[in-house]
Amino acid sequence: VIRENDTLAGLTVYRAGPPLREVEQRYGLDRLVVLASNESPEGPFPEVLEAMVSAAAGVNRYPDGGAVPLRAAIARASGLQPEQVVLGNGSCELLFFLTQAYLDRGDRIVFAEPTFTMYRPVASARGADIAAVPLRDHAHDLEALHREVDDRTRMVVVCNPNNPTGTYLAPEPLRDFVASLPPDVLVVLDEAYIEYVTAERAATEGWLAEFENLVILRTFSKIYGLAGLRVGYGLASRPVAEALDKVRQPFNVNSVAQAAALEAFSHPDKVQARREHVARERDRLYQAFDRLGVPYVGGSQANFVLVRIEGLSVPGPEVPQALLERGVVTRSGYSFGCPGWIRVTIGSVEEDDLFLHHLSQLVGGGAKP
Ligand SMILES: Cc1ncc(COP(=O)(O)O)c(C=O)c1O
Repeated sequence: VIRENDTLAGLTVYRAGPPLREVEQRYGLDRLVVLASNESPEGPFPEVLEAMVSAAAGVNRYPDGGAVPLRAAIARASGLQPEQVVLGNGSCELLFFLTQAYLDRGDRIVFAEPTFTMYRPVASARGADIAAVPLRDHAHDLEALHREVDDRTRMVVVCNPNNPTGTYLAPEPLRDFVASLPPDVLVVLDEAYIEYVTAERAATEGWLAEFENLVILRTFSKIYGLAGLRVGYGLASRPVAEALDKVRQPFNVNSVAQAAALEAFSHPDKVQARREHVARERDRLYQAFDRLGVPYVGGSQANFVLVRIEGLSVPGPEVPQALLERGVVTRSGYSFGCPGWIRVTIGSVEEDDLFLHHLSQLVGGGAKP
């Protein structure tokens, strides 16, 4: 029998949900509102689609392995050198590079709980020990995270805004936290949702000049509406960027994705419009939850909200399924360490209305939003 290595033997396979078409057919729905994966409800900007079409004609060639124009554009916007920019097949791939480059069996990694669910499997795949630090009032507990950093700790991951709570660490405490860690501990700042932040925001890329042990991860999957293309980037000091490049296969980001990301990056006005839409909808959803008497985690700075679903007319664990059968896909907190909650992505006005309508029906005779 072929035996997988000891580290893999302890891991489980990620089980993807059924294709959406199948779900529509199963429940006889003519439309599914997908609010489950924090994607943009809108597609790529029209100029981005055009760039993709022209790039598609050239896919007989391998991509530009150095992604020169895209890395240059990202570097320029961040005030960094192109050598400090590493691209990934989604920012998830950069998480794999980081753990591959910096974690050995028995090393320790520290992050919050609940936070983005990928940190755990990528660290486990390296045989690392995980210190998961409970959130405090739904937000990162920086003091408690710091207490978990010991001699074996090689990496600390902070997701800001945090998935799934949407809570956001203000620049000053976050910077103090980074400064307080030993210089041989890598601090990974996952900023997948940073473009949605409307609170005071620090240009964290500026911190790289001071902290060689800092890595910032961002993505084109969220506000730019390119999740299906798989492209994200890391900003780091030169030695860290070089380490990540050692484990990267040369053509990890395809040419259509590179062209799309480059074009998407040159439309800050459109990004701003999406940020404003999300901020308006966040407030509108919170007001509707207040009217319905449904508790939630307030203050999200991301494109999703965490909603309490216990005490409705169906038992909590069944609420995601009840919403699904009515045509609204949300993410059940029971699957990521938040029993009693669902995470709902902010969609278009119409999609959010549909979600509120169906939620209000589960409130059991409650007022309509
Ligand atoms: C916090 C966080 N980081 C990273 C990602 C992954 O994004 P990508 O599509 O760039 O791999 C996600 C996606 O949901 C996320 O929530």
